[in-house]
Amino acid sequence: MTRVFSGMQPSGDPHLGNLLGAWQNWVRMQDDRDCVYCVVDLHAMTAPAEHDPATLRERTVQLATGMLAVGVDPDRSVLFVQSHLAEHAECTWLFNCVAGFGELRKMPQFKEKSEGRGESVSVGLFDYPVLQAADILLYHADEVPVGEDQRHHIELARDIGQRFNHRFAPEDPVFTLPKAVHPPAAARVMDLQDPTAKMSKSSSSEKGIIYVLDEPKRIEKKLKSAVTDSAGDIRHDRAQKPGVSNLLEILAAATGGDVEVLAAEYDGQGYGAFKAAVAEAVIELLRPIQQRYAELDADRAEVERILAAGAERARAIAVPTLARAKDAMGLLPAVRP
Ligand code: AMP
Ligand code: TRP
Repeated sequence: MTRVFSGMQPSGDPHLGNLLGAWQNWVRMQDDRDCVYCVVDLHAMTAPAEHDPATLRERTVQLATGMLAVGVDPDRSVLFVQSHLAEHAECTWLFNCVAGFGELRKMPQFKEKSEGRGESVSVGLFDYPVLQAADILLYHADEVPVGEDQRHHIELARDIGQRFNHRFAPEDPVFTLPKAVHPPAAARVMDLQDPTAKMSKSSSSEKGIIYVLDEPKRIEKKLKSAVTDSAGDIRHDRAQKPGVSNLLEILAAATGGDVEVLAAEYDGQGYGAFKAAVAEAVIELLRPIQQRYAELDADRAEVERILAAGAERARAIAVPTLARAKDAMGLLPAVRP
């Protein structure tokens, strides 16, 4: 069966973009694939501004709870926390000796995040894509569902895997070469206040972001004040009408409807009624998720038990892969006294 691996960082609260652009797809993939999902807390430590120890710990359990609430099913999929397996960091070291300084320096995300920070930028941020390669390659992932912006990271994982196999295991390759996959109906949710920018944890104002755990009243308020335009007509045209188009796409994603059909249905009713309909659809989409989240949140021991079982299952895949990699590289096996 096709093996899938994906991860999300516990930085910031999950929002509608994460749900429609990533999680819904993760949940669907469980039907016909063997899925491994990970809360990548080691990656979240690479952004110093966001790395507050108490917050990191809290967000890690919250993100795992969110994944369970949207429908990641621990009976079918492996769900675990990255730092619970020492293998990820250990494999990163092996790959550090395979990856090139030049290829890491060129990573677009590193360039973006290190800009203007001079020499103070951490080695962890530089090494981020190598840790990501370890995440993916340790599990022999065939497919990695991610947003467009992760394309270079997945290509690097592929290159590292290929180079490793070629150099250290040409007869019996250790690593499977992964490929990035993007959701079919690539949902790209835009900021409600600035519909030309992606809805993102790093947006300047919370008014443009709908969080998965937002209360119905807040959702209504945020949608009511969503930026549209002065024309008054409802049609899907990202270039001319980015605000209205974003709302149409959110409505379509939340109801499973078609953008053009919905546009025809609401055109002529005015933005007020249209926004109210979008708010209602989003509230209904989030209602069962929030309910499930509250139940799980009230039983943290259960979430911890699920994560412990997930780590055990992850270990069963990652430990033998790492052992083969170390052996192939010529590290002397440790003999227990
Ligand atoms: P991030 O919140 O940037 O850590 O992204 C985590 C995942 O959510 C990525 O796989 C993205 O593809 C997805 N994602 C984040 N923001 C959006 C958005 N505005 N629209 C669609 N998908 C998104
Ligand atoms: N870098 C990814 C992001 O920002 C998160 C991530 C870490 C990841 N390890 C991964 C995604 C492995 C897919 C596979 O979205």
